[in-house]
Formats: sequence, structure tokens, C-alpha cells
Amino acid sequence: MNQVIIRRAEAGDVPAMALVLAKFSQDKLLLDRSEDDIYQHLQEFVVADCEGLIVGTVALHIYGSNLAEIRSLAVSKDFQKNNLGKMLVQACETMAEELHVALVFALTYVSDFFIHLGYHIVPKEALPYKVWTVCVHCEKFSHCDEIAVQKRLSDEMIKPMHMIPIYNKTEI
Ligand SMILES: CC(C)(COP(=O)(O)OP(=O)(O)OC[C@H]1O[C@@H](n2cnc3c(N)ncnc32)[C@H](O)[C@@H]1OP(=O)(O)O)[C@@H](O)C(=O)NCCC(=O)NCCS
Repeated sequence: MNQVIIRRAEAGDVPAMALVLAKFSQDKLLLDRSEDDIYQHLQEFVVADCEGLIVGTVALHIYGSNLAEIRSLAVSKDFQKNNLGKMLVQACETMAEELHVALVFALTYVSDFFIHLGYHIVPKEALPYKVWTVCVHCEKFSHCDEIAVQKRLSDEMIKPMHMIPIYNKTEI
């Protein structure tokens, strides 16, 4: 029995995260993410850590006051079907809730997985233009066959402002 923890990514995880993602970007299931790109967006990432081995990643990218995208979701093949994908998505939803962002979407080939987690399919045209700024780097941009799914997080789950965790305190 191995213990897996879902935690925020750290700089030391980046080479292993890039390897996990590369396996799927080679198969065109995910957009390619270089190590530099991951470092620059490290605050967005959560990882699945199996006793020191990075076996899954996901990122939450905020677009605006009420819209965030789940990106770069991957679980290494040998570790799939253990609920890690679900836990990674749920971690993103928690991050969105903590930031008071209520609408989360993904562009995906595994829409059934997301539907299983309470997402529903929306027309890609419904997404705002800025969402496509990353996609222009994809070779499939002009004939994108990904499916857009989104979930509105329950208002009850969105914590009131004063519940946002305070990591440090000072008096000035
Ligand atoms: C999609 C992916 C992240 C799922 O990860 P996983 O850890 O195997 O999934 P989980 O074990 O957490 O599955 C959770 C639930 O979703 C279901 N599920 C998993 N993959 C599914 C799929 N492709 N279609 C429908 N349901 C799926 C599982 O049966 C499970 O159901 P349960 O809660 O009733 O047991 C993984 O298959 C993956 O990395 N795929 C390649 C990269 C990719 O396509 N990423 C998505 C980019 S948006």
C-alpha cells in the first residue's frame, strides 16, 4: 500500500512534473509544457505525490473574477484508476473556492470523466476570447476537437471572504 498525498507543487517537483505531462503531450492529449513554463506558473500547480514520486499533476489558471481553467491534468498510466484524477480536480475546485472563483472549466478529450465529476458540456464559443490565447500555440488550433466542460461551484461551498486562509500576519 503506497501513500499518495495531493499537495501544492514545489520547485523541486518540476522536472518530474514535466515528465508526467510529456507522456501525454507526445500523444497530443495535452498541450506541451516545458520546465520553464511550469516554473513560471508553479503557483497554479497541484501534484499527486506517491512517497516522493510525482505521479500526477494539475493546474488551475485564473482568467477573471469568475472564471478559471483546469489545465495540465495528468495521472501517470500505472497510477490511473485510483481516484487521483478526481482528487486533483477536487483540489483545483478547492483552490477556486478559496479564491472566490465560482466557475471552473476545462477543454478536454475526456469529457465523460469530467461529467462524472459534475461538469457539463458547454459550447466552446461560450468561453471568452482570452481563453484561446494559449491555444494559438497548439497545432490543432484551427481544428480544435476538444470538448469544453464547466462546473459552477456551489455558492454554499464558496467561503465568505473572512474565511480565506491568512498565511502570515503583521501589524504596521
Ligand atoms: C483523465 C485522467 C486524469 C483520469 O485519471 P484517473 O486517476 O485514472 O481517474 P480517477 O481514478 O480519479 O477516476 C475518477 C472517476 O472517474 C471515472 N473515470 C476515469 N476516467 C474516465 C474516463 N475517461 N471516462 C469516464 N469516466 C472516467 C472513474 O471510473 C472514476 O469513477 P468512480 O468515482 O465511480 O470510481 C487520466 O486518465 C489521464 O491522465 N489521462 C491522460 C491525460 C488526459 O487526458 N488528461 C485530461 C486533460 S483535460
